[in-house]
Amino acid sequence: MTIPLWTADEILDATKGKCSRADWTVDGVAIDNRTIEAGDLFIAIKGPNDDGHAYVASAFANGATAALVSEIPENAADGGILVLVDDTQSAMEALGRASRARVDAQIIAVTGSVGKTGTKEALAVVLSDQGKTHWSVGSYNNHWGVPLSLARMPRDVEFAIFELGMNHSGELGPLSKMVEPHVAIITTIAAAHLEFFKDTSEIAAAKAEIFEGITRGGAALLNADSEHRELMKRFAREANLARVWHFGEAPDTEINLKNITLKPQSSDALVTIQGHIKQISLPVPGRHWVQNVLAVLGAVELVGGDVDKAVRALHLLKAPSGRGVQMTLECEGGSFVLVDESYNASPIAVQAALKVLGKMEMSKGGRKIAVLGDMRELGEKTTEIHASLANDLSENEIDMLYACGPNMKHLFNAVSPPRQAGYASSSDELVEDVLRTVQASDVVLIKGSLGSKMKVILDALIKQSEMLRAVKKAGA
Ligand SMILES: Nc1ncnc2c1ncn2[C@@H]1O[C@H](COP(=O)(O)OP(=O)(O)O)[C@@H](O)[C@H]1O
Ligand SMILES: [Mg+2]
Repeated sequence: MTIPLWTADEILDATKGKCSRADWTVDGVAIDNRTIEAGDLFIAIKGPNDDGHAYVASAFANGATAALVSEIPENAADGGILVLVDDTQSAMEALGRASRARVDAQIIAVTGSVGKTGTKEALAVVLSDQGKTHWSVGSYNNHWGVPLSLARMPRDVEFAIFELGMNHSGELGPLSKMVEPHVAIITTIAAAHLEFFKDTSEIAAAKAEIFEGITRGGAALLNADSEHRELMKRFAREANLARVWHFGEAPDTEINLKNITLKPQSSDALVTIQGHIKQISLPVPGRHWVQNVLAVLGAVELVGGDVDKAVRALHLLKAPSGRGVQMTLECEGGSFVLVDESYNASPIAVQAALKVLGKMEMSKGGRKIAVLGDMRELGEKTTEIHASLANDLSENEIDMLYACGPNMKHLFNAVSPPRQAGYASSSDELVEDVLRTVQASDVVLIKGSLGSKMKVILDALIKQSEMLRAVKKAGA
């Protein structure tokens, strides 16, 4: 018999909830009724726009075994089992803490301005090869995602990896205290969510809150090439951590990048881990992936994993959806390569993506086309930061820029006319122009903050390609 994720007694104990029955168990936890699987516990969270209590009946209809609620929903009276608590958010956090307390696993927390999800997924790939591993889904990294991801952790895991995110000071500390990591990684400090901070030093201070939850004897793994290296080191020292390790190109780092070869679709690098030399090969392009993998290998070493085995597992890495996935699509007269970076964008991530585009191998007549949507939450520096990407377009020899949204207009105006392919205030208005322009042998990068809806353009290119494929097939 498989052991359930939670028994009723354990849930009632952890949450101080009241329930008339104790003869049930659950195998999963969900807060979104659309992702419910049979046998789940549904937690009815009150959000700013929506109240989960309205979805309890639908959660039961979708197979939930029980629901954690702070009031009895009217329409769920004849449904499944209800657990009544004072506050469902606190109850979910309590369940998360109980989950953390009962495992005997090595726990890794990942934060940083960019690269959290990529690093977490890479850790999941290499550690799954070494023992039972649990990790947060997607970017579930806030006050809902972190306790939920904890509550979903099987009791017999050997490794677990959690993504921790924040938009404001004071958010990361409590999340880290819930996770109690043995190792905390800070991938990078860069301008993202700058709207809520004075400068990147303030962002560094907010990221350093992750040290607050590190367990006794635990370690921090920091970026040696960051301009805030000294500041971060000071915060780490103040937190009294047993070990503070660095990864990067700067000399004297525990995880040291000696040599790197960037190719259009992959990278090779020579790395030392505490002096031991390792040759690594990654099936994903871009320096940023090598940087993230340095942190991955450092964390494997710090949690007592097998680094050589981890190096061998790196061939399994994949770019997470919307973060650099490359695909070949059909267009009139042939095919072109699309780089899907439509999931999000901050200045450092756009620069990283343009570097990858710059390195792409081109066949004759092909053009490098960047289709960029607004970067959001950059505060008063928005105009300047967008315009400054003009240098990156020329350095990486990008042939054409399609700019989308009021912020990207500043970049459009800052580039020289041969690069100015097109501008529109929304992706809906830009899509036809891009469809008309793309031709065989081009490479097209699509990137923007999620809110800039660049996926509209991606979807249109994919749809066009599918139609052309169908026509070809019919004609064959
Ligand atoms: N170390 C890094 N430096 C610069 N850019 C990066 C780095 N890691 C990832 N990126 C870029 O940032 C984007 C978002 O990556 P992701 O792993 O989803 O970050 P997060 O979870 O922190 O938002 C990717 O599409 C990639 O272009
Ligand atoms: Mg993320």
